[in-house]
Amino acid sequence: MSTVVLVGSQWGDEGKGKVTDFLAKQADVIVRYQGGTNAGHTLTVSGEVFKLHLIPSGILYPQKLCIIGNGVVIDPPALLAEIDTLRERGIDISTLRISDRAHLVMPYHRRLDELEEERRGKGKIGTTLRGIGPAYMDKVTRMGLRVADLLDEEELREKIETLLAQKNSILANIYHAEPFDPALMFAEYLGYSRIIAPYVADTSLLLDEAVHSGRKILFEGAQGTMLDIDHGTYPYVTSSSPTAGGACIGSGVGPTRIDSVVGVVKAYTTRVGDGPFPSEISDAIGDHIREVGREYGTTTGRPRRIGWLDTVVLRHTCRINGLSHLALTLLDVLTGLESIKICTAYRYRGSVIEHIPASLRALAECEPIFEELPGWQEDLTSTSNFADFPPAAKNYVNRIAELTKTEIAIVSVGPGRRQTMILQDVFLIP
Ligand code: IMP
Repeated sequence: MSTVVLVGSQWGDEGKGKVTDFLAKQADVIVRYQGGTNAGHTLTVSGEVFKLHLIPSGILYPQKLCIIGNGVVIDPPALLAEIDTLRERGIDISTLRISDRAHLVMPYHRRLDELEEERRGKGKIGTTLRGIGPAYMDKVTRMGLRVADLLDEEELREKIETLLAQKNSILANIYHAEPFDPALMFAEYLGYSRIIAPYVADTSLLLDEAVHSGRKILFEGAQGTMLDIDHGTYPYVTSSSPTAGGACIGSGVGPTRIDSVVGVVKAYTTRVGDGPFPSEISDAIGDHIREVGREYGTTTGRPRRIGWLDTVVLRHTCRINGLSHLALTLLDVLTGLESIKICTAYRYRGSVIEHIPASLRALAECEPIFEELPGWQEDLTSTSNFADFPPAAKNYVNRIAELTKTEIAIVSVGPGRRQTMILQDVFLIP
């Protein structure tokens, strides 16, 4: 058993970067399969902090094949900035491979993202303004530019001219905004193509070889299940499929090649951006958790909204992704609370419901039903064995497994690589 998909179980920011980094150490190949620079992983390695948006965090280990799959939308200047930063810090990036089928985020996508959010006003999605929605929109309407186009000078020139004719008309007529110059854009992107070219490959072929030679492959999801375009809290979602199914589509690997799926879950809930959030905490406990957990966006710096753990959300996540196991993160942040709540169901117009309604209007009316568990006061950050946890912390972890009917494979109690407890080796899950 050697292929594992790692997904976010909530609204993103579950600490996937840390768990990915931990599993990447065992893996031979690490794959990003969706999203773009809207994602942000913060990793602490030997006390040094790394912030990655596009490149799989496995790059921090030597000799790991790191793939940016076809399902990712790539913003070339952002990718080059990341490559430069890694190189400056002495990281070898010769094992990076970028799918020739991945789509590009262009400057007009970023601009249209901003303009559309402004136009929505109060009804805004709260996007990261990284051009993600407009880039996926162009992909689906078959007006996208792909990495393969970057490598073909004539194709690039022609496509930029054709696409800009349409984009400039939208910018001028709908948003009354400045147009882009096709010649300048072509020159800029031709420059990027020369730097990116050595890393470009048919990554589905590389993955197929890796699968057949029994190499350990880790597919790292960005964002989270509740931000999935189909299964999340639409329209307050991202424009891709962060769920396990997205790993197949976004990397060109068939479903029968996936062995297990691990959901990363934070010991409480956070979300950035707008949209209903039934277990949200609106008192001082929320502010306390935000400060202790440093809950500010990696990409945008925005303060995250804080809530109690919601097992209605988690059961949805377990089902949609077919989770084999959970990886529980940031448990240490809850230390010091007198009691801890877990949302077990919702009350909606007098009835108890255990599933997420499709209608956001209905979700906004849902009131959380909480179970209250005792908290613990002992510091967890230097505990390296689950058996040594204070009973209340163990009880909390076990209760999550019970309510989700899913075993917990990993518990993380701090940002460092050593602050991770393995209860089950996910590369060996039968
Ligand atoms: P977009 O992906 O920038 O279009 O943003 C759509 C929604 O997804 C917004 O609510 C964002 O805050 C949220 N989002 C996108 N990426 C992330 C992430 O990596 N973590 C948490 N939320 C995200």
